[in-house]
Amino acid sequence: MNKNFRKAMIAVGVLAALVSGTTHAAFPDDKPITLVVPFAAGGPTDKVARELALLMTKSLKQQVIVENTPGAGGTVAAKKVMSAKNDGYTLLVHHIGMSTAPGLFRNLGYDPMTDFEHLGQVADAPMIMVGNKDLQAKNLKELMVYIKAKGLDAAYANAGIGSASHLCGLLFMSAVQQDMTTVPYKGTAPALTDLMGGQVQLMCDQTTNLAGQLKAGSVKAYGASTLQRIPAFKDIPTLHEQGLKDFQVNVWHGVYAPKGTSKDTTDKLSAAIKASINDASYKAKMTDLGVVVPNEKSASPAGHKAHLKAQIDLWTPIIKKAGIYAD
Ligand code: MLT
Repeated sequence: MNKNFRKAMIAVGVLAALVSGTTHAAFPDDKPITLVVPFAAGGPTDKVARELALLMTKSLKQQVIVENTPGAGGTVAAKKVMSAKNDGYTLLVHHIGMSTAPGLFRNLGYDPMTDFEHLGQVADAPMIMVGNKDLQAKNLKELMVYIKAKGLDAAYANAGIGSASHLCGLLFMSAVQQDMTTVPYKGTAPALTDLMGGQVQLMCDQTTNLAGQLKAGSVKAYGASTLQRIPAFKDIPTLHEQGLKDFQVNVWHGVYAPKGTSKDTTDKLSAAIKASINDASYKAKMTDLGVVVPNEKSASPAGHKAHLKAQIDLWTPIIKKAGIYAD
């Protein structure tokens, strides 16, 4: 090939790349991958999903977008993804709610273990019981006096039956032996707005959503849902150390594809997820939010599936014993 012809061919190649605007997507086809989030935008689940989407886009050289599909404690989104084409383009980012749904819903309509491919765990968020900053109660002891006195006049916000905030609230009310009026929202982002506005008094939410308000002092923290204090929020005592013995709710998050998605596709997706959660910016952001990034074993598809099974086995009898149903 003479020199001028070679130069001309290179110029054509460069021009073609410029015209296309992007390098060719590495994933099978050139269309966006959708991460379906079962709660409203701006909340803790949404925040994890959007961080993941940014990094998966980089890793797969394929646009990854987030779609919020709230409702019924996350089961609307789970059913949507279960019924989606199993081509790897519609995925679910869900949390502990995937393991509590079988106990809460008598007609769930799907089996979290067999109707999905488990792509890996991506985050493990602690929760904190918070109150409106104008509440008089300065600590858990005083809060329990307040709750006993107010009873059903005290409003507790959650993201709907089956949500992590619902589960934490149930365990809390059972531990303090006092019911409150629960107010469901499409996610804890809108719930937090009402809590700060005084429309509701209390909520148990993930640090992913609360970090900014906690640092700004615009909500009152009454206790963490972990046995050890949260490293990013060491000044907040746990509910356990304040007397609610063994009170523990960790909101673990995983990514799911519809059953039957090919192994080649799930391998590509799991590898992109693993690369994303190992990215330094992801680890730094999550740590700052008090969120634990799963280790290699937990993050693997096998580790995710085993953890889901263990969590279903843990929560189902607890929920049944409490006699709580969502349907
Ligand atoms: C919940 O389960 O409480 C949800 O994670 C809240 C949310 O993500 O908005």
